[in-house]
Amino acid sequence: MNARSFVRSFAFLLGIGVCAASFGWTASNDDCLSCHGDKDLKSAPGKSLFLDQEKFKASVHGQAEIGCTDCHADLQKIKDFPHAEKLHPVDCAVCHDKEAARMKMSVHMQPHRAENPIVVTCADCHGTHDIRKKDDAESSVFSINIPDTCDKCHLERVKIKNGNEFIQQYRQSVHYRALEKSGLSLSASCVSCHGGHDVKAAGDPQSRVSRKSIIHTCGRCHVGIEKNYLEGVHGKDYIKGVKDVPVCTDCHSEHAILSPLDLSSRVYATKVAAVCSRCHDDERLARQYGFLTSRLKTYSDSYHGTASKFGETRVANCASCHGFHDIRTSSDPKSPINAVNLSKTCGKCHPGAGTNFAKGKVHVVSTKVENKGAYAAKVFYIIVIAALISVFLIFIAADLFHRIRTQWKND
Ligand code: HEC
Ligand code: HEC
Ligand code: HEC
Ligand code: HEC
Ligand code: HEC
Ligand code: HEC
Ligand code: HEC
Ligand code: HEC
Ligand code: HEC
Ligand code: HEC
Ligand code: HEC
Repeated sequence: MNARSFVRSFAFLLGIGVCAASFGWTASNDDCLSCHGDKDLKSAPGKSLFLDQEKFKASVHGQAEIGCTDCHADLQKIKDFPHAEKLHPVDCAVCHDKEAARMKMSVHMQPHRAENPIVVTCADCHGTHDIRKKDDAESSVFSINIPDTCDKCHLERVKIKNGNEFIQQYRQSVHYRALEKSGLSLSASCVSCHGGHDVKAAGDPQSRVSRKSIIHTCGRCHVGIEKNYLEGVHGKDYIKGVKDVPVCTDCHSEHAILSPLDLSSRVYATKVAAVCSRCHDDERLARQYGFLTSRLKTYSDSYHGTASKFGETRVANCASCHGFHDIRTSSDPKSPINAVNLSKTCGKCHPGAGTNFAKGKVHVVSTKVENKGAYAAKVFYIIVIAALISVFLIFIAADLFHRIRTQWKND
């Protein structure tokens, strides 16, 4: 809008304003759009003040016939134009007090760390004139679009303790791929795990991702797994508030969650032993909960463990024998490692395995004290192998010596 046309419309509207004021008139959307419908209208610093009518009409507020001045409340009583240059920010709470009240409690509205001088407003997540219902596929808060909405700030602008790599980890996860590549709107977006208005800091016990709640947060979608988990040894103690049992994210990670068939997954067949051993070979935990350690060592010494180290995925890992979500103690008749069930458990991979096959202790500790037989066998093998190697070395040395001597003689 050039200066002349602005003055003209200004004079025109001033005229209407003065007439209307005498009848208690309030500005209509059309009045506002007579200026703000102009694509070239800019504020003094050069920011566009154009409002796209089509977009606004398609928005949830346009559909509900909310007027400009319902939101820009400063102008509700305006009698003549131009209006003041600076207006108060829109207060969405006037109509959405429930959402605003919940937002107030969230980490986004609490004082931020000094390195994050960012004010989070409703419009940062919802937009301004193009707001849509949350189940509208074009809404910025529709599940598929949520990662982009949160990433506007979390990709780089917001600095958090452990850095921002988690965004890339999430982007490679099975959840994001399902959401983005397959358009599976039921998959987990940021909001499924963190909430939308009640986002809490990760360390806050009230957070949906805290230890106290994470099982139920994942369990909202993985219903059957939550149920299985709560029936196992770990889950039963989880309910009692034991802090040392594993929760979903200890075994699957927080953002980098992948299919167990994915080579990079924390629970890929050859990596499971490392996940379980973090706790089961920990002396402090073993003492506190009275369980046997050396699980990794005994497993590694076994045929299964050795083959697994070389990348063999068909051999048994901890989870093949113990299960993984509803792990039970050996005395539990439902446990796959209970004596009664062992032949079935081994039989999954060793067809025809009878009770005898399964009888040999699996976690055989080959130190003197705990198992004399296995220890003796191990020592025997070490001696035989050492002797064999020595004989070979002597043979090679003698052969070499002989060759060098013949060479000298020939020279
Ligand atoms: C006569 C033309 C005109 C009319 C009519 C008009 N505006 Fe404006 N409006 C302007 C101009 C010019 C500015 C830029 C002021 C500046 O220089 O920053 C502006 C700025 C604004 C801003 C930004 C204020 C800020 O703090 O950055 C809002 C919001 C706004 N107008 C809303 C409205 C609404 C709502 C109506 C209808 C009730 C309306 N305007 C009617 C010309 C108009
Ligand atoms: C649902 C509430 C809502 C309605 C209805 C609404 N606005 Fe806004 N408008 C906002 C918000 C939020 C902002 C961002 C700045 C702020 O918070 O004040 C904004 C900003 C603006 C600006 C500043 C430039 C910009 O886009 O950031 C103009 C101009 C404006 N509105 C004009 C209008 C006009 C004209 C109408 C009616 C056709 C209208 N608005 C209706 C919420 C609304
Ligand atoms: C951090 C991003 C974010 C901010 C900030 C935010 N919202 Fe939301 N809002 C969302 C998300 C995400 C949803 C969808 C909720 C869902 O899917 O559970 C939503 C949903 C809504 C809904 C639909 C009703 C509902 O709860 O399902 C309304 C209304 C709403 N927000 C209003 C507001 C208002 C008002 C503010 C400011 C006080 C605000 N929002 C601030 C992310 C945000
Ligand atoms: C004057 C009252 C009013 C104001 C102010 C207002 N809204 Fe609304 N809002 C409504 C109405 C009415 C609806 C439509 C409700 C419906 O159709 O179910 C709505 C719907 C919404 C929805 C969609 C809810 C859903 O079901 O998914 C969101 C999101 C929303 N508003 C956000 C905002 C935000 C953000 C602001 C501030 C920028 C705001 N509103 C300001 C009245 C208002
Ligand atoms: C499958 C669930 C899940 C999804 C999806 C998810 N998060 Fe997380 N997020 C978590 C868990 C669990 C934590 C860790 C909590 C802890 O440290 O105890 C976390 C931590 C965080 C933290 C704090 C990080 C830190 O190291 O302190 C931020 C910020 C965050 N998430 C943002 C996001 C954003 C943004 C998205 C979407 C792009 C997202 N999250 C998606 C579960 C999820
Ligand atoms: C306008 C920018 C902005 C948007 C958009 C935004 N955030 Fe944030 N977020 C922040 C700021 C700023 C902090 C506070 C960091 C601090 O305390 O210093 C924060 C903190 C967080 C934290 C806590 C981090 C911690 O240290 O534990 C989580 C979790 C989080 N946001 C998740 C989300 C999710 C999920 C969304 C999308 C629904 C989202 N954020 C959208 C700016 C934003
Ligand atoms: C003690 C470690 C551990 C815990 C705790 C754990 N998981 Fe698992 N999870 C695994 C292992 C190992 C596998 C892979 C088993 C395989 O190879 O099929 C797995 C597989 C999965 C799968 C793939 C489908 C399937 O059943 O094979 C999903 C989904 C899953 N877990 C979700 C969860 C959820 C949700 C929780 C929390 C309620 C959870 N897990 C807790 C170790 C764990
Ligand atoms: C909003 C629902 C939702 C939430 C919350 C959720 N997930 Fe998922 N998850 C899914 C869906 C849907 C898939 C299937 C994606 C696919 O197969 O493409 C999936 C897949 C998985 C897989 C891979 C399964 C496989 O066999 O490939 C694992 C592991 C998993 N989720 C673990 C978790 C954990 C751990 C949490 C909590 C931190 C969690 N999920 C939270 C919906 C969810
Ligand atoms: C975060 C640590 C942690 C991880 C990871 C973990 N556990 Fe445990 N586990 C425990 C604790 C603590 C207990 C003791 C709970 C109790 O029985 O009171 C336990 C108990 C058990 C028991 C019962 C022990 C007994 O003597 O009764 C078995 C079996 C078991 N876990 C197997 C596994 C397997 C298999 C994995 C990997 C898939 C695994 N655990 C991963 C901490 C962990
Ligand atoms: C080939 C099957 C098999 C594999 C693989 C296996 N276990 Fe076991 N595990 C058993 C059997 C059978 C028992 C019970 C008898 C025994 O102690 O040998 C057992 C006992 C245990 C116990 C004691 C449980 C109780 O209730 O007494 C723990 C803890 C345990 N295993 C953890 C692990 C961990 C951790 C791994 C992986 C590093 C692992 N197991 C690998 C079969 C297996
Ligand atoms: C997930 C599959 C799987 C399970 C479960 C399993 N094994 Fe194995 N096991 C293998 C594979 C694969 C080999 C490699 C040799 C083969 O194909 O027979 C092997 C090899 C062995 C070997 C050494 C080679 C041989 O055939 O003598 C023994 C001993 C053994 N398993 C015992 C057991 C016992 C005891 C159980 C049950 C407590 C068990 N396995 C459970 C897959 C498994």
